[in-house]
Amino acid sequence: MTDVFEWKTDFVTGNTLIDDEHKQLFQQVNELYELFSDTKKYHDQISEKIISLKTILIKHLYEENELFEKYNISEKEEHLKAHTDLIKIINEFENYNFSSLLVALLLCDTIINYFSEHFSKYDKKFILELNKKMSIKT
Ligand SMILES: [Fe+2]
Ligand SMILES: [Fe+2]
Repeated sequence: MTDVFEWKTDFVTGNTLIDDEHKQLFQQVNELYELFSDTKKYHDQISEKIISLKTILIKHLYEENELFEKYNISEKEEHLKAHTDLIKIINEFENYNFSSLLVALLLCDTIINYFSEHFSKYDKKFILELNKKMSIKT
């Protein structure tokens, strides 16, 4: 099956750790979309995928946060706030009595938005600075 969301070379930052995590997010969203083909049959798998997707995304955001500190990244406050807001939104999905299908769709939407907005607004610039600082350190 072809991927619904295609990974683009524009998303490559040259930072292996970040690129691998971003690719993983893409892969998870595509796998989740495949499960939508039969929501009754794949009900349990959708619920499991929600947990793994959420875990991977939150872990990724925290990892970026740690890198801000470790490499003293400039203008990190706004980026940090964007991550905090995103984590809050994701966690809020659980506060409502949403069906797992709706949570799955909202999660996919959040991640797709991450790549269309957050990535170009924050990640790209941050990783450019990070790559420079990492190459100096090694
Ligand atoms: Fe990121
Ligand atoms: Fe980010």
